Amino acid sequence: MTVCSHRMENPLRRSACLEHGPSLLCVAYTSGMQFNRLMFWLFYRFGTPPWEGHPLPERLRELIEGPSALPPGKALDVGCGTGDTSIYLARRAWDVTAFDFMNVALKRARAKAGAAAVSIRTMQADVTRLTPSEVGVGFQLIVDNGLLHGLSDAGRDAYVRLVSAIAAPNATLLLAGFAEKKRRGPRGYDRPEVERRFAAGWELLGHRKDPAISSRPDDPVYVYELRRR
Ligand SMILES: C[S@@+](CC[C@H](N)C(=O)[O-])C[C@H]1O[C@@H](n2cnc3c(N)ncnc32)[C@H](O)[C@@H]1O
Repeated sequence: MTVCSHRMENPLRRSACLEHGPSLLCVAYTSGMQFNRLMFWLFYRFGTPPWEGHPLPERLRELIEGPSALPPGKALDVGCGTGDTSIYLARRAWDVTAFDFMNVALKRARAKAGAAAVSIRTMQADVTRLTPSEVGVGFQLIVDNGLLHGLSDAGRDAYVRLVSAIAAPNATLLLAGFAEKKRRGPRGYDRPEVERRFAAGWELLGHRKDPAISSRPDDPVYVYELRRR
């Protein structure tokens, strides 16, 4: 059976892509990637996902509004969900590109941006397949609130290749994710993994616990700040 590479929105609907095999539901359950996609689709389709409306990372606010704030430039919101980070950045004069593989989330992001009267460029894309020519290059700020921590090893490899290719020199990459732990949900990552994966092109400037982002006190979110060499 061929695994569909089309950007179907609803993995349960066979009609979403008839070209690639008889049962997308079967594919969803046999491919980790498709299962991941299915879970996100269910979260967005049936209600409010648990991460919706979480506070922005404290470090992001410092970088944007603090005494040594970054000058506004090109920003990328990786796995933007319904766009809260993108809207925050666009309100502060950043030129924002936002992508997510869930169109249902992007539709909400566009509606929220419209209501906030800000402009953001949105794309439906899978970070593990996206190319620099599709998303653009020269981003001074790349923000990831909760995408990388859910990817497989191969997905993480592709992610590092992409962000390294599209970042401007001295760009800032801010990653927010859970620590590695057995849980229902994302697998997470720890500092040694971040250091190892980004060693070739990035300097890890620091990381800190940001408990406000997680709704579970026993499972806090950590924020990593990296600079492109
Ligand atoms: C935990 S949510 C966080 C959403 C948003 N960043 C926020 O802070 O509210 C992770 C987001 O990443 C998206 N995502 C997960 N894997 C992805 C992939 N491989 N490519 C693109 N988006 C992905 C999901 O659809 C979801 O919107």
